[in-house]
Amino acid sequence: MKVIVAENKIQGGAKAFELFEKEIKNGAKVLGLATGSTPETLYQNWVNSDLNCSNLTSINLDEYVGLTPDNPQSYHYFMQKHLFDKKPFKKTYIPDGTTKDPSVTCKEYDEIIKKNPIDLQLLGIGRNGHIAFNEPGTPFNIGTHEVKLTENTIKANSRFFDNIDDVPKSAICMGTANIMASKKIVLMAFGEKKAEAIKKTIEGPITEEVPASILQKHPDVTIICDKAAAQELD
Ligand code: F6R
Repeated sequence: MKVIVAENKIQGGAKAFELFEKEIKNGAKVLGLATGSTPETLYQNWVNSDLNCSNLTSINLDEYVGLTPDNPQSYHYFMQKHLFDKKPFKKTYIPDGTTKDPSVTCKEYDEIIKKNPIDLQLLGIGRNGHIAFNEPGTPFNIGTHEVKLTENTIKANSRFFDNIDDVPKSAICMGTANIMASKKIVLMAFGEKKAEAIKKTIEGPITEEVPASILQKHPDVTIICDKAAAQELD
């Protein structure tokens, strides 16, 4: 694993954009993308650049079940707002949160990934080491699947909704096997709250209790973190 320690999330975002731009200029055509607060500085650099994305395909990690693309809490909405509105791609894939049959949608998503092998996958990381919605204990060998959200996550998310009953109860997300099949992976992490997860990911044992620890087995991973997220590394 290559580890790049930036001063802060602004520099980290600029570094991550440099890396994406270089890979795209070198021929990367299919990008795996993530949502959340971590990639925001990367996307800011991206939309302010002159990089042409009309040849690119993107495949996002996850989406809530039950949210329509125009719902401001949906990951569709997030991607439009932070990247696609300003940088149109040739084709963008995000799991269909409005599906009546998540298991069919998951199989279709696996097919999409098989037909469009991911050249460069972007990841954030949760405080507990989760990647996408693959929480501790999720088997390493699974593909796209539906994840039931825990009571804690539902409660935490309820601040974004008028009513707790409107909070999604599940999400569709790429599995660790899909992520590991990507040719290159960039994981970003900012802030001291991510320090323990970053230490376990890089220096800890490979265990399903720390989903990101599987990345130690991938041949081409770059971790971009700020000083705060790197503070526990040896
Ligand atoms: C987002 C995703 C999540 C986040 C992670 C970190 O598509 O799959 O795994 O990357 O929860 O979230 P932030 O960046 O908000 O700290």
